[in-house]
Amino acid sequence: MTSSNDVRATFLDYFARNGHAVVESSPLVPRNDPTLLFTNSGMVQFKNVFTGAERRPYSRATTAQKCVRAGGKHNDLDNVGYTARHHTFFEMLGNFSFGDYFKEQAITHAWTLLTKDFALPKEKLLVTVFHEDEDAATLWKKIAGLPDEKIIRIATSDNFWRMGDTGPCGPCSEIFYDHGDKIPGGPPGSPEEDGDRFIEIWNLVFMQYEEGPPGTRRPLPRPSIDTGMGMERFTAILQGVHDNYDTDTFRAIILASAEATGQDPDGPFRASHRVVADHLRSGAFLIAEGVLPSNEGRGYVLRRILRRAMRHAHMMGARDPLLPRLVPVLIRQMGAAYPELVRAESLITETLRLEETRFRSLLERGLGLLSEETAKLGDRQPLPGDVAFKLYDTYGFPLDLTQDALRAEGRPVDTAGFETAMAEQRRRARAAWSGTGDAATETLWFDLKEKLGTGTEFQGYTTERAEASILALVAGGQEVETAPAGTEVAVVLNQTPFYAESGGQVGDTGTITGPDNLRIAIRDTQKKLGLFIHLGTVESGTASKDAPVVAEVDHARRGAIRAHHSATHLLHEALRRRLGEHVAQKGSLNAPDRLRFDVSQPTPMSPEDLAWVEAEVNARIRENAEVTTRLMTPEEAVKAGAMALFGEKYGEEVRVVGMAHDPEATAKHGVYSLELCGGTHVARTGDIGLFKIVGEGAVSAGVRRVEAVTGATALALVEESERTLREAAATLKANPAELPARVAALVEERRKLEREVADLRRKLATGASAQEVETIADLRVALRDLGEVPPRDLKSLAEAILKGGTADVVALVSSAEGKASIVVAVGEAAKGKADAVTLVRAASAAVGGKGGGGRPDMAQAGGPDGDKSAEALAAIRGALAA
Ligand code: ALA
Repeated sequence: MTSSNDVRATFLDYFARNGHAVVESSPLVPRNDPTLLFTNSGMVQFKNVFTGAERRPYSRATTAQKCVRAGGKHNDLDNVGYTARHHTFFEMLGNFSFGDYFKEQAITHAWTLLTKDFALPKEKLLVTVFHEDEDAATLWKKIAGLPDEKIIRIATSDNFWRMGDTGPCGPCSEIFYDHGDKIPGGPPGSPEEDGDRFIEIWNLVFMQYEEGPPGTRRPLPRPSIDTGMGMERFTAILQGVHDNYDTDTFRAIILASAEATGQDPDGPFRASHRVVADHLRSGAFLIAEGVLPSNEGRGYVLRRILRRAMRHAHMMGARDPLLPRLVPVLIRQMGAAYPELVRAESLITETLRLEETRFRSLLERGLGLLSEETAKLGDRQPLPGDVAFKLYDTYGFPLDLTQDALRAEGRPVDTAGFETAMAEQRRRARAAWSGTGDAATETLWFDLKEKLGTGTEFQGYTTERAEASILALVAGGQEVETAPAGTEVAVVLNQTPFYAESGGQVGDTGTITGPDNLRIAIRDTQKKLGLFIHLGTVESGTASKDAPVVAEVDHARRGAIRAHHSATHLLHEALRRRLGEHVAQKGSLNAPDRLRFDVSQPTPMSPEDLAWVEAEVNARIRENAEVTTRLMTPEEAVKAGAMALFGEKYGEEVRVVGMAHDPEATAKHGVYSLELCGGTHVARTGDIGLFKIVGEGAVSAGVRRVEAVTGATALALVEESERTLREAAATLKANPAELPARVAALVEERRKLEREVADLRRKLATGASAQEVETIADLRVALRDLGEVPPRDLKSLAEAILKGGTADVVALVSSAEGKASIVVAVGEAAKGKADAVTLVRAASAAVGGKGGGGRPDMAQAGGPDGDKSAEALAAIRGALAA
């Protein structure tokens, strides 16, 4: 039997042999198209190559492309499970020519591969062409020798292929396989075409146009080729089965599902097994790419798919979550071709288990409500919209799950009533809502949110650059259609790589660029009601609503923010290990150039604590362990030992970030740090580079703050202190290593010198050369101008002179540092004849002072005029003489 893996390999080999580059499947979440929810065909990754906007080193390519069609254009969800060929996830095999070959060669390749390599009998094949495309019809006749009745002209859009509402497009020619007259159905274009006899296997698109906004279409620079072969249906033909779900890959999953549930794979639950098998594939591939179940955007489409499968698992009586148990068989089937499945196995399994476990209890209660409500209704009477809404709102039933559940009894749902109930709930939410801050602008965001009906999808965990469309522009406090250069704007995008400030991590900066030289410099990103608000200035061009743009985060700055944020997690754990479990986060800031982390801790941290913590964090950085992210319920996260902020309100699921190894921490799955966190982090701890604590202090009673830097900032800090050391060492003509000893020696030497100087001064003031005294009013008076002698020495010097016995009154003036200081001392012999306070006050006036004070035997004063020492002494002389 030709296995699915053989089919893929044969296809790619054929085109590789014929000069095509074998290009890897692009991700399911398109990086280059804001209008597409998921990659829905092989050409999506080449969209800009067709239009000429992007160049690649090859002009022919071939791929096996992962595709999801669920939600948006080409939505297949409703039928999946009930038909032979509908899937939410499928592989599209394709060959592409970018202005290289065109129709003739495309048809030749297709015909050769089908009839030679895959050896399909010619008489089983027929084709359609677009009714205006005579060229194609002629070529089919010439190359394949098909008779006229096997070249069917189709006038409808079936033979004009479009990627989406905009983008490359063109007429196409489809190749059909005839399963023979035992199967009912007519050829394409006939009234019975929906039957199963004629199956489309390959679509050749002759790419000729690019469609812009409605009604505009321009020719592509060079005609090109895009083809798509549904791999599952083609494999079915080669494996001689009529149903895609009977091919090897699906059969293996269905048998595993049958075994796990005990339900016959082909019995009454045939459709349920198929729903489970199909949805397992799209779920696993999306999760492997980092799309996780949520209530917004792509995450919600994933949730709808998973919950639909989970209802079927429940119907089959599966007691434990079924989907996670089927992951190993999926990986056995597809892991070799798609190694991302192998890499993400545990993430896929855990995410599926979480979603199924959580949804189970809601599901039972919701189904109970559903059967109560339908019991009240007549046969085929629609389910009222408000009941469908209650199931959605209270029990987490996506609308299509409810529709699917009622499908068997042929009961529709009043979808208009569902929408009305939804609108009514929004109105109530609004009435109950009171914003913070400026009421007028807050109302504006509320209006916008309501109008847009959805929040911004954040893509910044996996990319820093993404295409997007402008959903709204706000300037001058109101919504505007356009904003010319020079305008301060707030831009809302449908999806964005920009992180909006939260959880202590600052908002991203960067640029939004677009057609006609549009460039908006973004200086901050904030979040309001789930909308990401990019704040910036239009630098050139004109921003306009609905414009396709490229949003690009300042990579270096984000890299530095990531490093600081991840370091904060390591710091948190290190502090707990050093200081104790009482350490809890009280606040944090993660900026590109620093981090700040406030924790509950009653006493200051010692230098030893800080050194230990710094060394510990750096050791974890050098470990260079992977940083992992998981989604869990808050309860599970806390049970696993993740640190959560006390009193913080968390959503239904939380991201749990694990970092570095600790084999001992078994409860925490062997990781060192485990925290609930919505921020962006490094891929491996080594990306942090280096961690340096720069400060520790008190914030408020019981709360201490640690400040630190990482990466380039930390390195710059180290370099700066090295430079300082080198300069200091150079001044001392020493090695930096000798500095401590040299500085200690200098300090000691200075102390010694100071002692010597003081000694010398005393000798100078009291020594023989200073014995001169004058006699004024019968008193022996020593008047001295001591110049630079420090004022604090004056008193002891005056006492020393009196003690020497040569004077009865001593007056000393210092003019150190330009200021005058005066001390007057009166000895025993002069008691009653001279008063120190009176004398010092007289001197103070001379130096611009405000008096002075002391006792009759010892007083001091000062004044700003250090150059008036002589006048001060003269004033004392005068006062004694008076
Ligand atoms: N892009 C074309 C399709 O999806 C080949 O059918």
